[in-house]
Amino acid sequence: MAVIIKTPEEIAGMRIAGRLAAESLDYIGAFIKPGVTTGELDQLIHDYHINVQGGIPATLGYGNPPYPKSCCTSINHVICHGIPDDKPLKNGDILNIDVTIIKDGFHGDSSRMFAVGEISAQARRLINVTHECMMAGIGVVKPGATLGDVGYACQQIAENAGYSVVQEFCGHGVGRGFHEDPQVLHYGRRHTGLVLEPGMIFTVEPMINQGKRHLRILADGWTVVTKDHKLSAQWEHEVLVTETGHEILTISPATNQP
Ligand code: MF3
Ligand code: CO
Ligand code: CO
Repeated sequence: MAVIIKTPEEIAGMRIAGRLAAESLDYIGAFIKPGVTTGELDQLIHDYHINVQGGIPATLGYGNPPYPKSCCTSINHVICHGIPDDKPLKNGDILNIDVTIIKDGFHGDSSRMFAVGEISAQARRLINVTHECMMAGIGVVKPGATLGDVGYACQQIAENAGYSVVQEFCGHGVGRGFHEDPQVLHYGRRHTGLVLEPGMIFTVEPMINQGKRHLRILADGWTVVTKDHKLSAQWEHEVLVTETGHEILTISPATNQP
């Protein structure tokens, strides 16, 4: 599959989908506290995407086995693709919520970390460094840069902080398709890999582990956990390559911050 260069019309559609994904994450933040279940958060996201935003939750029924929920909720040692359930959140948990809305055929895919009540200093540091990784990767995006540059930038930040980068899951092209080419690795070597061109849209979504990078997939076929059961964090934005640099399509309208 080739990398799709988006037309101005497609870029306009992706800006809208990206904004809606960000708005749904802004919306859910207020509900996150000890005692709330991830299933309840999922229902809120589901209803918001459909009834308020006029879109479709892309994860529902996606893949094989069909993913059963309308977002992913990955707690503590869960790296990604945690399935919302009826377990209540606990004080001190760290939680990634990853939403993907389809609006007028275009995918808005973004995730953020949330703290449940009071979290440890170590957990806060992991969350902050992982955000720095994502922003460092996004920061090098411009025409002529390579995907190796993006991966290298993420990896440097993570490893200098004493953390490890998950290798089995990566960012991806996104548009009318949920997961398009290219694959965007969060580690790599500078000046290698795909050369970026205006009109490309892809996600940068590093998964960073407090301990070793190795993972295990649970019997549900989706939930990805750290093998050593140490914490993992992730943030995700959609990024457009522009003529002069890049534009983040999933900035929070509430805070205007990435
Ligand atoms: N939103 C995830 C991503 O960033 C994909 C989730 S697929 C699911 O690519 F089926 F697990 F929901
Ligand atoms: Co993604
Ligand atoms: Co996502």
